[in-house]
Amino acid sequence: MNRSQDSEPIAGSFLHEAQRFISRGFSLSFKPSCVLVTGGAGFIGSNYLLRVVPRYPDTLFVNFDLLTYAGNLENLTEIETMENYRFEKGDVADEKRVAELFESYGFDAVVHFAAESHVDRSILDPTTFVQTNINGTLVLLRVALSNWESDFSKCRFHHVSTDEVFGSLGSEGAFTLDSAYAPRSPYAASKAAADHLVRSFGETYGLPYVLTNTSNNYGPYQFPEKLIPLVINNASLGLEIPVYGKGDNVRDWLFVDDHCEALDLVLRNGKNASTYLIGGQQESSNLDLIHILLDEYDVGTGNPSGASRDLIRFVKDRPGHDFRYAIDNSRIQVELGWTPSHDLKDGLKKTVDWYLSNEAWLKSVQDESYKSYYESQYGSRE
Ligand code: NAD
Ligand code: TYD
Repeated sequence: MNRSQDSEPIAGSFLHEAQRFISRGFSLSFKPSCVLVTGGAGFIGSNYLLRVVPRYPDTLFVNFDLLTYAGNLENLTEIETMENYRFEKGDVADEKRVAELFESYGFDAVVHFAAESHVDRSILDPTTFVQTNINGTLVLLRVALSNWESDFSKCRFHHVSTDEVFGSLGSEGAFTLDSAYAPRSPYAASKAAADHLVRSFGETYGLPYVLTNTSNNYGPYQFPEKLIPLVINNASLGLEIPVYGKGDNVRDWLFVDDHCEALDLVLRNGKNASTYLIGGQQESSNLDLIHILLDEYDVGTGNPSGASRDLIRFVKDRPGHDFRYAIDNSRIQVELGWTPSHDLKDGLKKTVDWYLSNEAWLKSVQDESYKSYYESQYGSRE
């Protein structure tokens, strides 16, 4: 745009930046002093903490996590001794415990990651998904409300959610802020219910919130039940690589660092009572993705080119398998200036390199409960 026609002030000075935000209906940047991070020992939560704890030394981050099979404090060794980091073990659905934590720390922000997060497990048994994802979110909302309602001006609830709440796309189009909720798995249904609860607390009681719906993440510290680490792990063990159906389902892949950067921006600069969709803009069919991944794996391990592709097996499809997800990122791009910085090939190379250099981590998370889950999902590992 020609600057002479642009009514916005010249960027640069603090005052003009502030005017720019206010004129668009933004509050000035939100700067929390004490943040409750739920589920911070899981995949995305730990990547988030590894990023924000060193970045904001004047903010205390309290990681509250039940340490289910998916939570691992070893992910956080880099920050565990930092002064602005604490760990508290517990269940988000335990109202008494959550209220005590609010009482002792005086949180002014919640970033809510804690969830049961795997679709296949939700198909095997939805019960814990309802308990953690719905009841747990309700508990956090109730306690946040009772602590904050006397003055909402300096607090914020950030609910981290998924694009799966919108259901399944055909081969064209993308989820937008106008997409209807149409969850198709018990996992997606439980996240959808939690999203509705968060918005209802905003509308009914005025609780300040931001909500993000994000596409499939990948990167370091992801538990090897999800597609990408499962493929790398099985290749390293010489196990078959199970591809559901024909492998033609499409996902929009987002490198976890890009997601965490977006979450930080939304918490600080997102508009109150708003939803931001966050996608990688990197669509791939599962089979194409697995090919790239295995080829990177063969390069990284010095295997003959293409050797690991022999492990691919087409297996029975997931029931209710969503065909395609894709995200329209426009709002976060335009309002907050965020775009993903990794393309799929670079991100997958980084990811394969990380798992190859962290074999001990990958081994350590495969305990008896992992083996028994694996057998009920895929049959024997022998
Ligand atoms: P994850 O399964 O790796 O981690 C979940 C964490 O929550 C674990 O540390 C676990 O111990 C903890 N937890 C589970 N139940 C708990 C409870 N009752 N109380 C306290 N802690 C509990 O999940 P993730 O992949 O890191 O996902 C984090 C959030 O992001 C979830 O809300 C998920 O729905 C959402 N999300 C994930 C993706 C993805 O691709 N992984 C994409 C979009 C949104
Ligand atoms: P997943 O990582 O479980 O994420 P989500 O279900 O949240 O998208 O699965 C990603 C895609 O990979 C999905 O289309 C299902 C497919 N998939 C397989 O083909 N085989 C597997 O063993 C797994 C775990 C997933």
